[in-house]
Amino acid sequence: MSKLTSQFDMTAKYLHWISAVVILWASISGLYIAFFELEPHIKISILNFNVLITTIFIPLFCWRIYHRIKHGLPQPPPGMSALEVKFAHFGHTLLYVLVSLVLLSGVLMMDRDVTVFQLFILPQLLQDQSSIQFFEGMHLYTCRLLALLVICHLAALIKHEIMGRRILKRML
Ligand code: HEM
Ligand code: HEM
Repeated sequence: MSKLTSQFDMTAKYLHWISAVVILWASISGLYIAFFELEPHIKISILNFNVLITTIFIPLFCWRIYHRIKHGLPQPPPGMSALEVKFAHFGHTLLYVLVSLVLLSGVLMMDRDVTVFQLFILPQLLQDQSSIQFFEGMHLYTCRLLALLVICHLAALIKHEIMGRRILKRML
């Protein structure tokens, strides 16, 4: 990505918004199911759908990380101090790490094969019940941490916009 521009490139933008939709949907619907009562068949349908879309999302997320490493970042927004830039960079890195852990634990906690729209099969990778339970616990906690961090991401964005820094425009 050119260091002279203050915009993310088209690929970064598309990958960010696809990721945002998948992660927001999987987080909101997953947490809703965990904390509120729902008809069992609706709950199962949502869970099965979420497993499918998040599995398809894995290669897209790998592409996003590759793109980010290869093309870097645009110039920081004007008016941001070096400390704020470092803090934002830390928060974004943490988001990438948490999403990776959520995806990894999700795949490793599966106690069945997943057939993705008749396209391919994601096999059950672990057989040992205690390892499966470990990754199930990890999935639940990393998902909740990720949801918290996404709330902070949105709060920081709103704060910058209120202060007159047009951050959102960089990703549109
Ligand atoms: C973008 C990535 C993902 C997000 C944001 C996400 C989010 C969530 C959330 C919020 C829950 C509910 C957690 C709770 O009970 O507090 C959940 C549960 C679950 N997730 Fe994920 N998930 C993701 C990826 C995956 C993947 C890749 C798989 C498997 C291939 C998976 C399989 C499951 C299953 C089976 C449950 C139900 C767990 C249970 O009820 O015991 N998830 N997910
Ligand atoms: C409606 C929801 C969202 C909005 C409006 C939004 C907006 C933005 C904006 C404007 C930026 C650019 C920040 C900058 O100028 O440096 C950004 C970057 C970023 N966003 Fe979001 N975002 C949303 C959801 C999410 C979600 C759910 C994630 C989940 C992981 C996420 C992860 C990231 C990451 C990792 C970056 C840094 C990009 C990079 O440095 O490669 N965003 N977001």
